[in-house]
Amino acid sequence: MKNKRNFFVAQKKILKEAGCSDYKESIKLLFSKAFGMSLDQRYNTKDHDNAMLFSAMVTRRAKGEPTSHIVQSRSFWKSDFYIDETVLDPRPESELIIDVTKHLLFDRMKVLDLGCGSGCIGLSLYKENPSISLFLSDISKKALSVTKKNALKLRAECELIHSNLFSNINERFDLIVTNLPYIAKEDFFYLQKEIMLFEPHEALYGGKCGLDVIKRFLSSVSKYLNSNGMFVIEFGKGQDAFLKHELRRFNFKKFSFHRDLSDVNRIVCAKKDT
Ligand SMILES: C[S@@+](CC[C@H](N)C(=O)[O-])C[C@H]1O[C@@H](n2cnc3c(N)ncnc32)[C@H](O)[C@@H]1O
Repeated sequence: MKNKRNFFVAQKKILKEAGCSDYKESIKLLFSKAFGMSLDQRYNTKDHDNAMLFSAMVTRRAKGEPTSHIVQSRSFWKSDFYIDETVLDPRPESELIIDVTKHLLFDRMKVLDLGCGSGCIGLSLYKENPSISLFLSDISKKALSVTKKNALKLRAECELIHSNLFSNINERFDLIVTNLPYIAKEDFFYLQKEIMLFEPHEALYGGKCGLDVIKRFLSSVSKYLNSNGMFVIEFGKGQDAFLKHELRRFNFKKFSFHRDLSDVNRIVCAKKDT
């Protein structure tokens, strides 16, 4: 018993000393993946067959690889999503999109998640109302194969579209949700090591001032919305003034900003007038 305890304490210490800010949460997830049981049950384990695997996972995490990539899973909203290095690791602040839009869903509503990555946003909305007609699009084919895995895992009926913004989209929607890249060049090089090394840069980098992709989205979105259709977009800290300006420029008169848990304006919900 004493050796087992020492082993777990040593693994936890490796993560702590490597500077993993989330080492307590990580060790639990890595343990569950390696042993197929929760950390609370650790002293019930009879054999150490999986100890090597656990230790190897701890080493990867200590080198900066995100826990979600190692365990290939990330909990988002009410589901667990398959995650790998080809998609953005879903961020808790993106759950705000679900929180705001779940009240707007109606039966058979036509919804597009543009830049879907793992599919966490669109598929979470589908779980809130499985009658919606869901479309998920991304510029990355690799990301779309992850979306497909998650759609199958969550038994969601949906259509996947490979598209650069609206280039391959020939429909109109009642709701478009999107979390496009918005990191500016000057901030990009200051990202945490684990983001720089392990997350797809095309999912994060939004051009010189961070707003290149969002600008292109805003200039076309109106054409892809039904009358009274809405879109909801996530953006970066301090980009709200730009969003407000562009919404007015493109004739969106009704819009509301929503703050995240850090009290920062994080998403805007805009309605087409006609
Ligand atoms: C910030 S990630 C968001 C992923 C996912 N929606 C989430 O919230 O976790 C941005 C996603 O947009 C995709 N993307 C980037 N530029 C795009 C474009 N021009 N057209 C469509 N998708 C794009 C990336 O491949 C990536 O999957």
